[in-house]
Amino acid sequence: MADATGKGLEGVVAAQTKISDVDGRKGKLFYAGYDIADLAAHATFEETIHLLHHLELPTASQLSETVATLRAESTLDPSLVELVASLAERTGPMTTLRTAVSAAAALDPDDQQSPEANLRKAYRLMAKTPQIVATYQRLRTGADAIEPRDDLGVAANFLYALTGKQPDPQVARDFDVVLVLYADHTLNASTFAGRVAAATLADMYAAATAAVATLQGPLHGGAIEAVREMLEEIGSPEQAPGWVRERLAAKQKVMGFGHRVYKTWDPRATVLRDIAERLGRQFGDTRWYDTSIRVQEAVMEEKRLYPNVDFYTASVYSALGLPPDLYTPLFATARMAGWTAHIREQYADNRLIRPDSEYVGPAPRSWKPLESRG
Ligand SMILES: CC(C)(COP(=O)(O)OP(=O)(O)OC[C@H]1O[C@@H](n2cnc3c(N)ncnc32)[C@H](O)[C@@H]1OP(=O)(O)O)[C@@H](O)C(=O)NCCC(=O)NCCS
Repeated sequence: MADATGKGLEGVVAAQTKISDVDGRKGKLFYAGYDIADLAAHATFEETIHLLHHLELPTASQLSETVATLRAESTLDPSLVELVASLAERTGPMTTLRTAVSAAAALDPDDQQSPEANLRKAYRLMAKTPQIVATYQRLRTGADAIEPRDDLGVAANFLYALTGKQPDPQVARDFDVVLVLYADHTLNASTFAGRVAAATLADMYAAATAAVATLQGPLHGGAIEAVREMLEEIGSPEQAPGWVRERLAAKQKVMGFGHRVYKTWDPRATVLRDIAERLGRQFGDTRWYDTSIRVQEAVMEEKRLYPNVDFYTASVYSALGLPPDLYTPLFATARMAGWTAHIREQYADNRLIRPDSEYVGPAPRSWKPLESRG
């Protein structure tokens, strides 16, 4: 039920968009009219990027061009690698990513803000984000940064840049699907933040930085990591029902459940549940998946809440052996596609976003000199 005070802007339509659409009652998500279930089954992340930015699936030559542009733009300038190296010594990956995205503005060769320049900037941001995340992970573990390969797509290149090994094709495809699923989601908090910044005509990097910053919290992108912590705390599938009951009895939230828009299964969660199961079996460790299933059954029984996109992603990333603090940066890697598409859409038909507030503070009163304040 919408909050009558308007808190959280629930139910408020704050922008028109052609990029994506959610039907929260039916559990449907569309990117430019294409059902997410079809995209998860057939589309690559590169095709999805083209779709979000051009609102049509790419032709074969457009797809080759997208792939080539993303590859060409993915190499990091040495000064950016140096920045990531120095941040990796003292701070976490989200702070590093946010800072690196902001700093990348200084290295962008386009000094104008035309629609064409903004499209180029968008592709640079999408190409560099996974490379920043992989480079951070390599450098903080004492390994050397790895240059992206010319023959791999974004998903496989990320896994390669992280480990130095060419990934198994099925694993690369599973990760590709995760990127497709996370690429956009209407006016979520981080996308809204990006559009608010863009609506002031701040530049593409400023708006993308605002979006990355907003993704960080546990009520948004940080939820995947919080789910992983929760699964660790639960320990085993058998302990899940009791843990959930206690948690809900204490009026605490179970991470990875509930959603502002979906009132049924999030269509992305069903795809991710299957990927989590397959990867768990492939890597011989199904405990994350098995525990998740028991948590989900218990939450459904106790509170009738559905899992959101982040719930099974924690099991997917755990099966892949990715460090938990990279989960939110990986969300950013995928969502950079949606953010930049929304920022461009905002520029194309802009009006400053400036809502009202309801004042609930003290009534007008007289100035009190310092000596008479008690
Ligand atoms: C996603 C989320 C922030 C949406 O928040 P919201 O639309 O403001 O919904 P509310 O927090 O007002 O929740 C509405 C009701 O459902 C309950 N609820 C919502 N999510 C819950 C959860 N994860 N665990 C337990 N109860 C939950 C609330 O306690 C509230 O119950 P009440 O009416 O009995 O007080 C919220 O569901 C949440 O915090 N989930 C956990 C974090 C998470 O997974 N985030 C990732 C989102 S993709």
